[in-house]
Amino acid sequence: MEKLHDAYGRGIDYLRISVTDKCNLRCIYCMPADGVPFRPHEELLRAEEIARFTRLAAHEGIRRVRLTGGEPLVFKGVVDLVRELRAIPEIEDISLTTNGVLLPRLAPELKRAGLDRVNISLDTLDAEQFRRVTRVGDLDATLAGIETALALGLDPVKINCVVVRRLKQDVLAFARLSVDRPLHVRFIEYMPIGNDETRSHGALDPEAATYDAALWGKSDVVPTAELIDKINAQAAAAGLEPLEPVGEKDPAPLGAGPARYWRFPGAAGTVGFISAMSNHFCSRCNRLRLTADGMIRPCLFSDDEYPVRDALRRGTDDEVLAVYRAALEHKPKEHELIEGTERFMSQIGG
Ligand code: 5AD
Ligand code: SF4
Repeated sequence: MEKLHDAYGRGIDYLRISVTDKCNLRCIYCMPADGVPFRPHEELLRAEEIARFTRLAAHEGIRRVRLTGGEPLVFKGVVDLVRELRAIPEIEDISLTTNGVLLPRLAPELKRAGLDRVNISLDTLDAEQFRRVTRVGDLDATLAGIETALALGLDPVKINCVVVRRLKQDVLAFARLSVDRPLHVRFIEYMPIGNDETRSHGALDPEAATYDAALWGKSDVVPTAELIDKINAQAAAAGLEPLEPVGEKDPAPLGAGPARYWRFPGAAGTVGFISAMSNHFCSRCNRLRLTADGMIRPCLFSDDEYPVRDALRRGTDDEVLAVYRAALEHKPKEHELIEGTERFMSQIGG
């Protein structure tokens, strides 16, 4: 069947599934230092419930799925889930967003199970800053994950870098990762997710030895236009040609959603920009989200959610589909300019 359209005529063919709210890291903007109160096991969807949901969603036009978290690779059933998703004939593309730490251990099995590709989250190339941003992480572990993904031929391999002004990341060093190898580096504007003031844990002081928390502020957003200028200025100082937009002869990497892609002349990979704050791409939004506790979330920025867990456990296919269609129908035209959501990113799935 053709893909279903929402109330504003957008074809919805992309499902992002958060398989767990747990993570082996604690990134400052994604969860509080002591973590979020994890949901009891029985409140979380099991792999077979997620697979059932996806099969039904595929009847409604879903063609591509992405597994996210928390960290999807800490979900015990992740390899079996990928295998079950691969068996759904309508699903053309299965990808995963990960911090990379468990890729050396799991990527070969995941690939055999049918995983097509990965996005790896990495916000800084400085080992000390990496530890502070992730609170517990080790830069080398994530870099090893990137190497594994390249070596296995998962394609394309994308790197997600959330740009936060106060972190003063070395953005040229990131962009240069795309020059020699087929890496697609994407800079994401910092978004006010999980920024409920009552749960903020103080301010982010980039000079401090530890980062207690990331309190989102408008001034931390580095708009794409400014970032491109900055990268080009630094590139010029380093003797590099400026970025040029990718064109028809030289297409963007597979799975191009809201990102806009550029490339250093002759580079093996690309540099993408996700202007989540400076440019509303709501009119092209093609996705729904399923949270680990079984809520369909039509928009990342809106806490309006549709509970589907009970229907998945006890209901008929029609009951599940009724929730799916209600969520689709209520997908908002565009998101409000918000300053926070109730859920942290780790509880939604980025
Ligand atoms: N703003 C922008 N990106 C974010 N991510 C997590 N929280 C935020 C935020 N507040 C990113 C993660 C990951 C992706 C799923 O979302 O770094 O790459
Ligand atoms: Fe974990 Fe990714 Fe959130 Fe960091 S951003 S805490 S790696 S889910």
